[in-house]
Amino acid sequence: MTGPDRRSQVLARFAQVFGGEPSHWVRAPGRVDLMGSHTDYNQGFVLTMSIDRDIWIVARPRPDRVVAIDSINLGERVTFSLDDIQRDPAARWGDYVKGVAHVFQAEGYALHGFDGVIHSTVPLSSGLSSSAALEVATAVLFRDLGGWAIEPLQVALLCQRAENSFVGVNCGILDQYTSVHGRDGCAVLLDCRHLTGQATAIEPGIQVVICDTRFKRELSGSEYAERRAQCEQGAAILAGHHPEIRTLRDASLDQLDAHAGDLPDVVRRRARFIIEENRRVLDLAGALSAGDRAAIGALAAASFAGARDLYEISVPAMESMMAAMLGAPGAIGARQAGAGFGGCMVAFVERDRVGQFVPAVRDAYRQSTGREPHVYPVSASAGAGVLAPA
Ligand code: GLA
Repeated sequence: MTGPDRRSQVLARFAQVFGGEPSHWVRAPGRVDLMGSHTDYNQGFVLTMSIDRDIWIVARPRPDRVVAIDSINLGERVTFSLDDIQRDPAARWGDYVKGVAHVFQAEGYALHGFDGVIHSTVPLSSGLSSSAALEVATAVLFRDLGGWAIEPLQVALLCQRAENSFVGVNCGILDQYTSVHGRDGCAVLLDCRHLTGQATAIEPGIQVVICDTRFKRELSGSEYAERRAQCEQGAAILAGHHPEIRTLRDASLDQLDAHAGDLPDVVRRRARFIIEENRRVLDLAGALSAGDRAAIGALAAASFAGARDLYEISVPAMESMMAAMLGAPGAIGARQAGAGFGGCMVAFVERDRVGQFVPAVRDAYRQSTGREPHVYPVSASAGAGVLAPA
């Protein structure tokens, strides 16, 4: 949908649902991780990119303490009072908005009630962090309505807290950080311990392409929490020998090998993946800006092999997609994205071959799985902020 069409659509919906016009417009992007699966909660590195798919909220303050939000994508409405914020299992998407309200209010920020319409071009539940985009857009809106100032990093941290403590998903900082701090035109090398990001160029001939398996993933499943616990266990065992190890970010492969016998097999494999993946993030940052195709291909392949064999977050649909991506014209490299278990994957493609790459991936994946994928190029877009009103 083009910008003007999207603006008319949200305006029409606002007029229809609430009457009149919105006075506040905000946006927050989704993200794709180019390298660094599950490294964030190990305080490691991620090469991340905010994408040109985002969530918009258009809103108008209300005189009372009620928040009424309407989702165009879902055709649903959630209404709640800022004085009585309760989860609703029947409308979980509303919990992201409520969680942000709950956490910011608990931190002492004055919140206004509002009528709002939400529209997302980030596909929902596909691994591109539509939930973090909704949290961050909500926070930016409350800030705008309340007229208070807040550090961008604090927005990301409080939104993460909303997801951890209110929604109940124990995610790391990757998604919220990227949605807040994303950079127009380049990737960001995120250090999840120091919470700093470094702009990282992508050589202009290389296009990032999302390849959505459309195999449903569910992050609140036990697998995510289980892997987190295994990483913590691995770090704790290694810390018994090397007290300077606080998380797997601090551990080397040599240290892991030296104490391999102390770790349960599954914990050893998880730890190996994280230690290697952290290294690959730094290496890919260099390779992507230099346009070193051979290195990009090798790093992405090693990341996927580790995700499949060591971290065990792959599913058959992802293997079919890997084959489809790597077999398509213009492919430089390809790997998993997000938490795994289906959802979106990511390919690095020769920019001038994208037109051939996209249909080839679609055909090959459809043939091997019977499922219709979504394949589309994305570019790096700015982090969350205020939109100029229509
Ligand atoms: C999800 C989580 C992130 C991160 C990724 C895996 O997107 O929300 O915090 O752990 O999975 O890298």
